[in-house]
Amino acid sequence: MSEIARAFAPASIANLAVGYDIMGLAIEGPGDEVEVRKVAEKGVRISAIHGTDKPLPLEAKRNTAGFAALRMLEAVQADFGLEMEIWKKMPFGSGMGSSAASSAAAVRATQQVLGNPFDDTQLSHFAMLGESVASGSIHGDNVIPSLLGGLILIRENEPIDFLRLPVPSQLQVMLIHPDMEILTSEARNLLSDEVSLTKMIRQTAETASFVHALHTGDFALMSRCMNDHVIEPQRAKLIPHFGKLQRLALDQGALNYTISGAGPSMFAFCKGVDSATRVGDAVKGLLAEQNVDSRVYISGVNMLGAHLLDT
Ligand code: HSE
Repeated sequence: MSEIARAFAPASIANLAVGYDIMGLAIEGPGDEVEVRKVAEKGVRISAIHGTDKPLPLEAKRNTAGFAALRMLEAVQADFGLEMEIWKKMPFGSGMGSSAASSAAAVRATQQVLGNPFDDTQLSHFAMLGESVASGSIHGDNVIPSLLGGLILIRENEPIDFLRLPVPSQLQVMLIHPDMEILTSEARNLLSDEVSLTKMIRQTAETASFVHALHTGDFALMSRCMNDHVIEPQRAKLIPHFGKLQRLALDQGALNYTISGAGPSMFAFCKGVDSATRVGDAVKGLLAEQNVDSRVYISGVNMLGAHLLDT
């Protein structure tokens, strides 16, 4: 059992156009770090949150990372507590799974100081509890990929039942983050509870086709089926110039172009790095013409997920 542990957890893309709340993947590059140290006093005390000027809560039960760790300590009836430090290394409210990454990193580090008592399913449960503090609901489409890596399909939240889907080797993801913020809780609140039967049929067909395309590495099918008939039409208005950006990305060879998680980041699946770079340059250029700063990330799917760092 370690006295101290530090973990990194990567950014992630949720929904993947066809799988609102049930699909997500981890990317390479950005992510958050969390360090935990065993202390005599029970509970979790967050000593500092670095890398953000947002007033994120230091009170453990109101903080994604703190709450996940608290629940893990409770589950093993630990007779000690944790001091926690958090490094936010990606933008907040970005649609890149920032709160999920903090929760996943906290879970990975806490698992280490507890002596690895939990399996991946249990860890996913704690990470989802943590992330729910920020998003206001339980969904694992950011936090499970961030924790475990890969492209994940979640069949059921409680009890958790998830699957790892295959990732074609040439698949590259272009993620663009325009310099603005959308709170997940607000982007969820604007969604209607009702979906027409016609849309349900179309969306189910797209989702099933997407799973088949991943299994067979069929990029042409991916490009036909990665359509969101339900969520994107309701949320696109939150992102200035979304329609123009989407048309441009598709013209430049993207297989799809839609909102990443709750936005404002957007992503495209592309075949190969050159294609992803061309699409990224184009959409970044269009945003710049509209005086919107943005940052592009080009990445394969991160298969590692959250992992320990040297302390
Ligand atoms: N599936 C979630 C949403 C991801 O789109 O609201 C963000 O937490």
